[in-house]
Amino acid sequence: MNDRLYIFDTTLRDGEQVPGCQLNKVEKIEVAKALQELGVDVIEAGFPISSPGDFESVVEISKAVTWPTICALTRAVQKDIDVAAESLKYAKKKRIHTGIGTSNFHIYHKLNSNPEAIIERSVEAVKYAKKYVEDIEFYAEDAGRTENEYLARVIEAVIKAGATVVNIPDTTGYTLPNDFGAKIKYLTENVSNIHKAIISTHCHNDLGMATANTISGIINGARQAEVTINGIGERAGNTSLEEVVMTLKTHYNALQIETGINTKKIYGTSRLVSTLMNMPVQPNKAVVGRNAFAHSSGIHQDGVLKNRENYEIMDPSDVGIDESAILLTARSGRAALKHRLELLGFELSKEKLDEVYEEFLNLADKKKDIRDDDIALLAGDATRQERRIKLDFLQVVTGKSLIPMATVRLDIAGEKFDATSAGNGPVDAAIKAVKQIINRQVTIEEFLVQAITRGSDDVGKVHMQIDYDNKYFHGFGTNTDIIIASVEAFLDAINKIQVK
Ligand code: KIV
Ligand code: ZN
Repeated sequence: MNDRLYIFDTTLRDGEQVPGCQLNKVEKIEVAKALQELGVDVIEAGFPISSPGDFESVVEISKAVTWPTICALTRAVQKDIDVAAESLKYAKKKRIHTGIGTSNFHIYHKLNSNPEAIIERSVEAVKYAKKYVEDIEFYAEDAGRTENEYLARVIEAVIKAGATVVNIPDTTGYTLPNDFGAKIKYLTENVSNIHKAIISTHCHNDLGMATANTISGIINGARQAEVTINGIGERAGNTSLEEVVMTLKTHYNALQIETGINTKKIYGTSRLVSTLMNMPVQPNKAVVGRNAFAHSSGIHQDGVLKNRENYEIMDPSDVGIDESAILLTARSGRAALKHRLELLGFELSKEKLDEVYEEFLNLADKKKDIRDDDIALLAGDATRQERRIKLDFLQVVTGKSLIPMATVRLDIAGEKFDATSAGNGPVDAAIKAVKQIINRQVTIEEFLVQAITRGSDDVGKVHMQIDYDNKYFHGFGTNTDIIIASVEAFLDAINKIQVK
């Protein structure tokens, strides 16, 4: 008998908590729509009480998305639940996700409480949330380190109070796959009303076992998995959607468990999230990494040429990697670029496409081998919100035995300002010139330059963290010229000061 696993995506909540991964409202809606296209069942859209921005995002995602359930996170606190219910006002299908820590660590050393009081608070929170919404998910935070007997008592109580889904998080990524599977099995056998709720997994990846633990949970009775695109999330991340979905697909004969995911959209969604969140996918990442289907050793190449299945357990086209894709060059037309963008998960308006196409031609002039990462970056940049301060002109003079000098012209809300400065290098000179114009006390706390793929003609990606008035702002810039990329990253961060 085959069975259905619900996919609960928390890219926009647990994933978005990662420093430097924050998205603006427009970007969150874009990701939410891509998740809908991908076929996830539930989108956890945010933690509404945590900030007005999170609240607004849940509201806007609720309006933008039609069929997946929209979920809002809360603590077991009435005010949190009130705010979550309000944020879900426009959702067609809504769920409140409330909960509390259940391990001894959490009960005694975080909540200063005792096991009986925690059961009472859990029940109260579920009953309170039930006043607003029918679909209530309860999380037993740190369930991975909670004794099974006590966990079963908590779960039985919250199901009795009305929980429709019970989430068993391995919050610290501590559990071993056998133990996590045994925990789920224990609940199925020792919670008398367990048939009234769906058991969910939520495994973190601190020991690299998030996917293994999730699969073990599913084998033992869980029917919802909480996952993120590319496995992004707190610390070492969450369970990655693509790994769970493709494991179930690849082992379908043995497990007989289906999901509603359109696997052909996996690669595009992965690139979209990576680009918008400025979080590169490691090249050897399972399923979506650049090297996931690249065979380099002679023996493997020979084997693959004779029969792909000799060395491949998945067909790349099943996850949306189209190997026969047209190679984009400076001679490619708009239609080819549009097709490639759609494969990557971007749907741009005609005006935006024209804008991206212009930038694509500029890049293609400088770089002969245009990769998906390059295109996704261009599209990501084009969908960013309009910046108030823009770089209009930059000239640097640098070299051995020369004092690096930079001249910068900024366009600030339509007005032009020039400045020239020396520095200990071209980036330093350019940033100093920018600082003269904007006249603010900002310090660069972090400055990271990365090549997106490889080669000296590559696009450089710069990540900057600045400190202004004891607050941190992140900025990103991409260009084949890393000095321009650095100034763009600096301005991106500065522009965020303006809008906060
Ligand atoms: O890791 C965790 O325990 C969580 C809960 C809030 C569900 O993210
Ligand atoms: Zn988590």
